[in-house]
Amino acid sequence: MRALQDRTILLGITGGIAAYKAGYVARGLRKAGANVRVVMTDAATKFVGPVTFEALTENPVGTDADFFHTGGGVSHVEIARASDLIVIAPCTATTLARLANGFADNLLSAVVLASRAPVLLVPSMHTQMWQSHAVQSNLARLDPARFRVMPPEAGDLASGDVGPGRFPEPDDILERAAATLGPRDLEGVTIVVTAGPTREPMDPVRLITNPSTGRMGIEIARAAQVRGARVRLVLGPTEVPPPRPFDAGSMAVSRVTTTDQMLEATRAALPGANALVMAAAPADQRPAAVRPAKSRKRDLPTTLGLEATPDILATLRPALAGLVVMGFAAETDDVEASGRRKLEEKGLDLLFANPVGGDQGFGDRPNEGFLIARDRETQVVMARSKADLADLLLDRLAERLPACGGTTA
Ligand SMILES: Cc1cc2nc3c(=O)[nH]c(=O)nc-3n(C[C@H](O)[C@H](O)[C@H](O)COP(=O)(O)O)c2cc1C
Repeated sequence: MRALQDRTILLGITGGIAAYKAGYVARGLRKAGANVRVVMTDAATKFVGPVTFEALTENPVGTDADFFHTGGGVSHVEIARASDLIVIAPCTATTLARLANGFADNLLSAVVLASRAPVLLVPSMHTQMWQSHAVQSNLARLDPARFRVMPPEAGDLASGDVGPGRFPEPDDILERAAATLGPRDLEGVTIVVTAGPTREPMDPVRLITNPSTGRMGIEIARAAQVRGARVRLVLGPTEVPPPRPFDAGSMAVSRVTTTDQMLEATRAALPGANALVMAAAPADQRPAAVRPAKSRKRDLPTTLGLEATPDILATLRPALAGLVVMGFAAETDDVEASGRRKLEEKGLDLLFANPVGGDQGFGDRPNEGFLIARDRETQVVMARSKADLADLLLDRLAERLPACGGTTA
């Protein structure tokens, strides 16, 4: 998550039952390259100790003992000035009430008041508390230009009840933190992304497919949403979870199984889109005949009649006028030349060609290859995580999007 790299992030921890999960948030922020400062309320220190966060962040932790300590303790003004972003996770009903009403009666609320940094609140509490008139009116009172609120998840609560109030997954909080910090350079852009394999059945239990996990396309969808795009993700069968939508319309996911279904879902996603990123690995062939029932082993044919599945890009070509189109080429040899041939044959604007086979290409592994553009020199991309690669590819895409100030020339 590039937006978090080298930024100073204040993680405020308040006295909710989810305070122990803030450790995962602190660790994730550090892993993303952020400098993390932690401020804990008095109540938070009853749930977890500051030492945990000192160890995780390698920074001193501010507590309310420091707030009233004038002899060189942690100053709220100094922390406020240093912070690029404030994330309060978990945020209790009490802390929310303080922030909504401009209280500065502990270190955390004083820092928020003394800072101009954007604030991401991650409220977490029992469902009745969350739905109470007091909490909802405090939320409505927050300055929308500065405060972002990540609503709690619905699910099992510590009390044994079920409903909204749960602390979200730490990775989802990191995505929201990155989105809050910006840049939101893809705001106003709609991107269709295809990802994952497809499956072509021979009978109800046997199929033709490939080892794609959909991770590359999922990372592109994730990064695009963080950067402000509205994303329509067409996702083949995979166990890798798609990104969670930030709000209605920021991430629409269509799950498909066969290449025919992927074609139709992509067609349906195109109206109004600015770009199409085809990161899926649809099966190129399917059995010419599908047996309606499972054949017994001894009845299985020794040869399989195949036919080509539809070429999604060629079929949709008439609907792609004005869109920036990016493709992928997974090649075992002659990677760059094969990639450029595919770019030209398919009329793509951009193509990422990468070697596959053995340990390379598929799954949660670093990716490397060649970024080929129709009218520019090929860029050699050294091995990097698929999340980092996603940001790099979106940079090149944005250069071509008129909505981002780019040109489609
Ligand atoms: C066991 C226990 C669990 C609590 N869990 C929550 C919670 O999940 N969310 C919440 O808003 N308050 C929760 N509270 C209440 C807060 O701890 C209390 O309102 C406290 O004053 C919050 O102070 P702070 O916002 O300064 O951290 C809990 C209290 C106890 C004793």
